[in-house]
Amino acid sequence: MAVQTVSEVLTTLVVRAVDKAGFSELGAVGAVSPSSNPRFGDYQSNHAFRINRPLRTAPKNVADQIVSAMPEHAAVEKVDIAGNGFINFHLDAAWLARHLAELVSDENIGIEQTGTGKVVVIDYSSPNVAKRMHIGHMRSTIIGNTLHRLYESAGWRVVADNHIGDWGTPMGKMIVAWHEWLDAENLAADAIGELERLYVAFGDAVKTAKGEEPTAAQQALMDRARAETAKLQAGDADNRALWERFMEISRVERDGIYDRLGVKFDVTLGESFYNDVLADVIAGVKKTGVAEDSEGAVVIRFGTDTGVKGLKKTALVIQKADGAALYGTTDLATLDHRVATWDPERIIYVTDGRQQLHFKQVFYGWNQWRKARSEEIARPALVHTWFGTLKIDGEILSSRKGNVIRLSDLLDESYRRARVVVDEASGQLPEAERDRIAKVVGVASIRYFDLSQNPTSDVNFSWDKALAMTGNTAPYLLYAIARIRSIQRKAGVTEPGVSGIVAEGAVESAMVRQLLKFSAAVNKAMESQRPNVLCDYLFETAGLLNKFYASSRVLDADTEAQKLSRLALIEAMARVLSRGLSILGIKALDRM
Ligand code: ARG
Repeated sequence: MAVQTVSEVLTTLVVRAVDKAGFSELGAVGAVSPSSNPRFGDYQSNHAFRINRPLRTAPKNVADQIVSAMPEHAAVEKVDIAGNGFINFHLDAAWLARHLAELVSDENIGIEQTGTGKVVVIDYSSPNVAKRMHIGHMRSTIIGNTLHRLYESAGWRVVADNHIGDWGTPMGKMIVAWHEWLDAENLAADAIGELERLYVAFGDAVKTAKGEEPTAAQQALMDRARAETAKLQAGDADNRALWERFMEISRVERDGIYDRLGVKFDVTLGESFYNDVLADVIAGVKKTGVAEDSEGAVVIRFGTDTGVKGLKKTALVIQKADGAALYGTTDLATLDHRVATWDPERIIYVTDGRQQLHFKQVFYGWNQWRKARSEEIARPALVHTWFGTLKIDGEILSSRKGNVIRLSDLLDESYRRARVVVDEASGQLPEAERDRIAKVVGVASIRYFDLSQNPTSDVNFSWDKALAMTGNTAPYLLYAIARIRSIQRKAGVTEPGVSGIVAEGAVESAMVRQLLKFSAAVNKAMESQRPNVLCDYLFETAGLLNKFYASSRVLDADTEAQKLSRLALIEAMARVLSRGLSILGIKALDRM
């Protein structure tokens, strides 16, 4: 069985005390959590505030009775009550150190397994194909992949689904452009580049000046694109074969990027996967009365009583007057498929903030439809995790302005820049080693820079900041681990262990307490969909190492026991930092 977190150990004590005091009927005991301020002990329970009402007495009195009934436990040095009724736990330093050793010896490094037996579907990256992946796809890919790793670390079964945009009129445009302008030589040399060139060529060919009507020739091109789309969707063999070619070329491009970023999907069910069921979805939603006809189109209307902010009086079109289904129609079909296939507890969508209304409509509309089909709707919880825009060194990137940066170019650039930093800091290492380090540092810097910001904020990516050796950056954290490895090498430790931590003095004791909060940080990052919570935690944790090195010598400690204790303590640090980085999709390095 997994080792219990400190919070779980203490919560069990409170449950027993509450039971003994005769209060167990009054409500479940919430998790005991780390105190925000060391004055209030190490951990705190607010249970007295939850049950004092029915008892018609002050929280302080309730807390007194709970504390009197509290069983003894080796972890607890002292329990006291803060003025108003918070129950504060002051924990025993030696017990904490021993418990830390147990936790970081566990394969989960003490992360509470809240997801055992549960499934979450995470829909992320999801680019539109036929074009190269550009930087606009970066945040969904990186944030989504980190949520993926966060959930996995807490024992959830994650189904990562890449809902690529591989259907609809862009495909018809590609088919027309292929017939018109294909450059076979370029296709052989740079397949994805040629597809992108064709797509752009189509856009250029139908572009009109502001306020001007398209010419007859432009109109004809657009009509052809619509006709080719319809043929493809009806199963035409030639178009299907061409489309499969586009798909394969795009897949190779995508997989190359995902490989470099350390991203893997369980399924890639793009929009095309749902083509065959869209007509049934439209008919079905209409039959239940959740959707209605509106000037030839079919729409789901949202009234004034949805209770969802921003949804009021909007409508989701699920079929256009010309019969075509839309993005939202596919999303309704996708929800049905996910629930039928995986019965998930939660489904999380990671896209940019501009899709907020879309997902409110889809979530609400789909739930209405389910209710109308009288299905149980206890789950799944539907979550849209959205993020702000990305600028690079102050530039807003937009395909319209023609300054889109390709993701592959950005990754190449990250290597070049990281290489300069590594050559400077570690010129003594052999070439192959510096090459390997720069590859890791480059990708890590991009990932970490993105993840360390609140997702909903706009991000201004800066190479100098991302690659800085100090501050809340990937290089700083990677270096903290590499330095521990270097100390271990100097000490001749080949299989570093974690037992025998004594935690002398304020800094070492703070390190132990901080490491014990790892599980809480992971849980908070996961539940709030904010990887930056974990970044902040890791940064704070690594910061303690600098204080530690300033006050405690490891290699020439005063006694052998002290040396062993300190070696164990930094090994515990390394385990938590490495696991934390690995959840962020960053591989730790042994040297830097
Ligand atoms: N392909 C869409 C885009 O590039 C994102 C898809 C998100 N997922 C979904 N189920 N709608 O904006």
